[in-house]
Amino acid sequence: MNIRQIQEARELYGIDGWGAGYFGINDQGHVVANPTGEEHISVSLPEVMEEVRKKGLTAPLIIRFPQIIEGQLERMHSSFKNAIADNNFKGRHMGVFPFKVNQRREFIDAIVSAGRKVDYGLEVGSKTEFIAALGYKLQDNALMVCNGFKDAEFIEMGFIAKAMGKNVVMVVEGPDELQMIIDRAAHYKECPEIGLRVRLYSKGSGKWEKSSGAQSKFGLTTTEVIHALQMLEKANLKDKLAMLHFHIGSQITEIKRFKGALKEAARVYSKVIKIGFTPRYLNIGGGVGVDYDGSKTSFESSANYSLQEFANDAVYVLMEVCDNEAVPHPTIVTESGRVIAAYHSVVVTNIREVQGADVNIDADDILDLEHIDPTAHKALNELRYIVTSMNRKNYVEYYHDSIVYQEELFTLFNLGYLQLKDRAVAEELYYRICRKALYFSGFERHIQEEFENLQKVMVSKYLANFSIFQSIPDSWSINQLFPVMPLSRHDEKPSLKATIVDITCDSDGCLTTFIDRSDTKTVLELHPPSDSPYYIGFFLVGAYQESLANEHNLFGAIHEAEVHANQEGEWEITKITQGDPIDELLVSRNYDMTEITDAYSNQLNDAVAAGKMTEQSRNEIYDKLVQYTKGYPYLVEG
Ligand SMILES: Cc1ncc(COP(=O)(O)O)c(C=O)c1O
Repeated sequence: MNIRQIQEARELYGIDGWGAGYFGINDQGHVVANPTGEEHISVSLPEVMEEVRKKGLTAPLIIRFPQIIEGQLERMHSSFKNAIADNNFKGRHMGVFPFKVNQRREFIDAIVSAGRKVDYGLEVGSKTEFIAALGYKLQDNALMVCNGFKDAEFIEMGFIAKAMGKNVVMVVEGPDELQMIIDRAAHYKECPEIGLRVRLYSKGSGKWEKSSGAQSKFGLTTTEVIHALQMLEKANLKDKLAMLHFHIGSQITEIKRFKGALKEAARVYSKVIKIGFTPRYLNIGGGVGVDYDGSKTSFESSANYSLQEFANDAVYVLMEVCDNEAVPHPTIVTESGRVIAAYHSVVVTNIREVQGADVNIDADDILDLEHIDPTAHKALNELRYIVTSMNRKNYVEYYHDSIVYQEELFTLFNLGYLQLKDRAVAEELYYRICRKALYFSGFERHIQEEFENLQKVMVSKYLANFSIFQSIPDSWSINQLFPVMPLSRHDEKPSLKATIVDITCDSDGCLTTFIDRSDTKTVLELHPPSDSPYYIGFFLVGAYQESLANEHNLFGAIHEAEVHANQEGEWEITKITQGDPIDELLVSRNYDMTEITDAYSNQLNDAVAAGKMTEQSRNEIYDKLVQYTKGYPYLVEG
C-alpha cells in the first residue's frame, strides 16, 4: 500500500472534486464507486471488470449504477424541500426527467422506479418519446410534460394520455399548436392541461447559450403569449392554462444566469395571473451544470454552484417576486436531466496497445544503434554521436542539429541511397534524441515553445478499444470534457504522458484535451503497459452520450452491466445487457443477412466446384463466417 502515491493520484486526476461523493480511490489503488454516496459502501471497478470477464463479456462496457440515479433524484428533491422549508415557501417541488437525456430503457426504468418516492414525472420532446413514456405507470400526481414542436398526431396523443388518467401538460411552442388543441377540445371529454413556453430575454451561459435569449428558436414572444391567452379565453379554456415554462440551455455554468432568468419568468408568471389566468406550475426547465472538472468554477466544463444553492436561489427569487406581486407561490417544476443522469454510468475499456513509447519492441535487439559504423552514412553516425553525448548544456543545439541530419537521411532514402534498416536506425535515434532533449528541457524554469510543441508530438498514444463517436460523442462534436483515468495501479506513479486514440478508422477518434482543476491539459498521465489488462474509465457519461451515440464505422452499443450494492457493502451485477452484434448493425443499414449468408454459401460452393477447397473446409469456413456475423464489433480478447 502506497498511501502517499494514492493521495497524489487523487489529486492528479481530480477525482475527489468531480466524483461528488460517488467515486474515489481505495487503499488498494483501485477506483471505486460509492453508489449510495456513503463511503463505507464501495464497489471496486477493476473487480467489476473481473466479474464481467467471468461472465464471458469483454470490454468495452458501460457500468451502470441505478442507485446513483436514485441518489441524484433525491438530492434534487431534498434540496428543494430544504429550501422550501427554510423560506416558508407555499408551493412545492415536482421534478420531471427529460427523456432525451438518456432514452435507454434500463435508464428510464431506473428513473421511474426511483421517482415513485418523490412523484417524479417524465418530459418528452417527440412522439417516439411520448409513445415510450405512455407505457410507464407513474404516480398519479406525477407530471408528464410534452415539450417540442407538435403535429396533429402528437396533440391527439396528449388527449389520449389525459383520457388514460395521466397528469399531462401540453406545452405549446407556437400559436398553431394551441389552435390544434382548441380544435380538438370540443371533441374530447377532457382536454389536457396547457403550458406556454415563454421566450425570455435572459440568457444562459457556456456552450448552450444559444438555447435562450431573444434570438432563440424556442418559446413564445411576449406578443405571442398575449395572443395565446386571448385564444384560450375565446375558446373558454382559460382554466386549462396550468404551466408557464422556460429553459435557458444546458450546463449553465454561472448561477447568476439562473437568477436573472428566474426573476424575469416569475414576473411573467405573476402578470399572467394578474390578468385573470390561474397557472399553478412554473416550469424552470433544466440546465443545472455538472462539475466535470471538479473546479467549481464558471468554466464551461464546470458550474460555480451546488444543487442546494440552485434550489435556494430558485425558491428565494420566485418567492420574492410573487410576494411583491401578491400572487400565490407556484409549484416549481424542474426538468433537469444532465445533473440527474451524468454520474450514474462509466464507460470502461481496455488499452490494446501503446504507440510511441519504448514499450512494444526493444529496438536494440534488432538494430545496432550504438556503434559508429565507418561504412554508414555520415549523418547516421552524427545521430549516434548526438544520442550519447547530449547533455543539459548542449541539448538545444544538438537537438537542432539532429533535425537537419534526420531530414538529410529522409531525403537520401527517398532518392534510393539508404536501406530500410538505415531508415529504421535514423528513426529510432531521432526518437531517442527527442526524448532526451525533452528530459533536459524539463529542468528549465521556462520551457521553450519548441519543446512544448515537441512534448505534444512525443506523447504516447494509448489505443483504447472503443469508439469515441459511440461512447462519448460530445467529446468529438463539441469538445466536451469528461474525466478520464485508469481504474487501477494508483499506488504506482504513472510515468507516461499520453493521449487516447480509439479503434475507429477516423483521425477525429482521439482525445487530446483532458480536465485539470486550474486549466485543461493536453496529456493524460498513464502507466506503462504490463501483462495485466489496463482498463481506462470515462466518467460522468450518463447524460446525452447514449442518446447522441452514432454507429460510425458500425461500432454499435457496447455491453452493459448494472451493479447494486447493499448496506453491508456487498455488491452484485444485477443485469447484463449484450451490446449490438454485427448482424443487427448491418440489418439497421438495410442489409439482408439471409442474402449475405447465401452469397457466402454460393461463393464457397464455387470454390469447391473449382477444386480450390474441400467440402469439409467449405462447411467449416461457412460456419465460422456465420458465427462472426453474430460477434461483437469491438476488439475481443484472445
Ligand atoms: C426543454 C428542455 N428541458 C430540459 C432540458 C434538460 O436540460 P439539462 O440536461 O441541462 O438539465 C433540455 C435540454 O437542453 C431542454 O431542451
